[in-house]
Amino acid sequence: MQKIVISGHVPEEYLQPYLGMFQFDMPDTGNREFTSEELRERIVHCDGCLILDSIVDRELLDAAKQLKVIANFGVGINNIDLEYATQKKLPVINTPTQVTEATAEHAAALCIGAMRGIARYDRALRRGIWESPIFSNADTMVEGSILGILGFGRIGRRVCHKLQGFGMEVIYYDKIRAPEEVEKELRVTYRSFDEVLREADCITLHMPFLPENLHIINANALRAMKPGAYFVNTARGKLVDEQALADALREGRIKGAALDVYENEPDILPVLLTLENVTLTPHIASLTKKARHGMCREVFAGIVGVLGGERPYNVVNPQVFEA
Ligand code: 8YV
Repeated sequence: MQKIVISGHVPEEYLQPYLGMFQFDMPDTGNREFTSEELRERIVHCDGCLILDSIVDRELLDAAKQLKVIANFGVGINNIDLEYATQKKLPVINTPTQVTEATAEHAAALCIGAMRGIARYDRALRRGIWESPIFSNADTMVEGSILGILGFGRIGRRVCHKLQGFGMEVIYYDKIRAPEEVEKELRVTYRSFDEVLREADCITLHMPFLPENLHIINANALRAMKPGAYFVNTARGKLVDEQALADALREGRIKGAALDVYENEPDILPVLLTLENVTLTPHIASLTKKARHGMCREVFAGIVGVLGGERPYNVVNPQVFEA
């Protein structure tokens, strides 16, 4: 039987369909991931490797003597040295479709929650403060506001759909502009990166993390944003200069933010924890049972495909199949 090492524990109900197919090696319970040394020792004799939340670096890839496939439990693959894996002709699988709905839903919820101050009111009530004035400019109506989407791929497009349902007008920027008929069908307007910053009342980030995108939201970008706008990030923490964001929030240049991802997870810049105008969640945008089942199906279809000599659609480096 072929052997798969999993970097963290996957409950049996998710692995059920594959128990007769593979021998699994993973931590027994809970949230613990194998350490890098443990993973290195175990990967030596494995045919496949499923990464939940660990780093795949050169050292690990060099230890993997008989590995035929690396699978990442998520769409973002910035935790994997893709260049080296490709050099070693190792196919890398991800879950491009099954995180979409859950992540888009969370991003939309964070946009609405930030604009309407939900977490701030909740925290105040728990401290015994009934903050219910008759007139206040603290929050912003979602209906009629402009949503700026940075990164218009699968997730960005679903956030667009969901927030149009709440009456938002949508502008977007992407490195690759969508075809005219798609823009028409989705009722969106293309803008440059700077125009989105200047015009949107709420900006939601949906770009992949690539080295050239490091701190794409920096002090300059935050200064370019409309005064009183909101910023939401469910993509990757390193896209944002967290200190610059904290400064903009503290100085009230932007009205609020909501974050699911951070520069140095699981550490959060301490000042962010003290600010009332930011809502924080711990990288859980795709954490629903439905999404996790979908991700398992997608990732294992890829693993089974590669081990069966096929070229699944969710291989991110298909060039490894070329001679
Ligand atoms: C996962 C994610 O929670 O898909 C992604 O890129 O960040 C999330 O869906 C994560 O990959 C699991 O560690």
